[in-house]
Amino acid sequence: MLVLGIESSCDETGVALVRTRVQGVPELLSHALYSQIEMHQAFGGVVPELASRDHIRRVIPLVQEVLGTAGRTLAEVDVVAYTRGPGLAGALLVGAGVACALGAALGKPVLGVHHLEGHLLSPFLSSDPPEFPFVALLVSGGHTQLMRVDGVGRYEILGETIDDAAGEAFDKSAKLMGLPYPGGPHLARLALEGNPAAYALPRPLLHSGNLDFSFAGLKTAVLVQSQRMVAAAGVVRFENLPRENQADLAASTQAAIVEVLLKKSLTALERTGLQRLVVAGGVGANRDLRAQLDAACAKRKVRVHYPELHLCTDNGAMIAMAAAMRLQSGIQTASTVYAFDVKPRWPLDTIAP
Ligand code: KG4
Ligand code: ZN
Repeated sequence: MLVLGIESSCDETGVALVRTRVQGVPELLSHALYSQIEMHQAFGGVVPELASRDHIRRVIPLVQEVLGTAGRTLAEVDVVAYTRGPGLAGALLVGAGVACALGAALGKPVLGVHHLEGHLLSPFLSSDPPEFPFVALLVSGGHTQLMRVDGVGRYEILGETIDDAAGEAFDKSAKLMGLPYPGGPHLARLALEGNPAAYALPRPLLHSGNLDFSFAGLKTAVLVQSQRMVAAAGVVRFENLPRENQADLAASTQAAIVEVLLKKSLTALERTGLQRLVVAGGVGANRDLRAQLDAACAKRKVRVHYPELHLCTDNGAMIAMAAAMRLQSGIQTASTVYAFDVKPRWPLDTIAP
């Protein structure tokens, strides 16, 4: 069965073609991505209306590119999958509308996929896919969750953020430092030159005894610290400080976020007794987080799986893959009701198994 997947929940238009198999992990045939980041950078963040309009421009050429690369035609597609939520309503509607229109025109069923399930299952696109059950650390721009995953569609949330997501903490701190949007990768690059112990920033909820996160206070602490540094140096803006001082604050911020993610992940592994950790979502691309998780898990004989670096952030491959895995495992069938009812807010543990 050939599954065409369309992702349009935020600022990336992604399309992919995946083939289900009788046994084993479905196979990725081709994928293509257009990132709108440059367009939104002028505004310091995603402008939803611009995002929707750009998805409209990109999605059909990307579908043609993906089919061309795989040497397939539209008529061969069996199911059209799309991101149903969560995400920006207008942006989601573009992907859902195009998927349903294609489905109706081809007489093929459609399947609305949960964006976070896409991230969660994205390590199955790697050459060394995980096996169930596992603990998942889902760290994206909008979500931070620890989950117990027993199979496709069998997700139990163990803990989650009560305010900002880890990606948001990276992005908001980076913005305070005058770095471009999205700040996570820029902050991580600057942090390479800095001392992670230079500033004692809070590790929110580190000793809370549960698996929840809170990152809103960290952003305030970064703001206060940056203001202090600016005042002490007698400069106008953070960007005017000597680069090593900027790097020290970036490294200290990253260290605070990574330590909390690391400690909570280890606690989740201990509590569940599971020996496998899957890390997914944009922040999963962070090299410091990967290095620290790898080192701590190696000591505990825990296997860690990541999506390939270029599939950590939003893409169509993870949406086609999640749809293919749901179909292949028999927990869901695609539908010929072309009602593109998107869900901008959609808790992962409320989706049908
Ligand atoms: O999963 P994703 O592409 O989008 C959402 O579904 O939200 O994640 C985007 C987030 C952004 O906050 C971005 O700054 C962060 O992932 N990110 C990183 C890195 N690469 C992307 N954060 C820290 N270090 C990175 N290398
Ligand atoms: Zn995402």
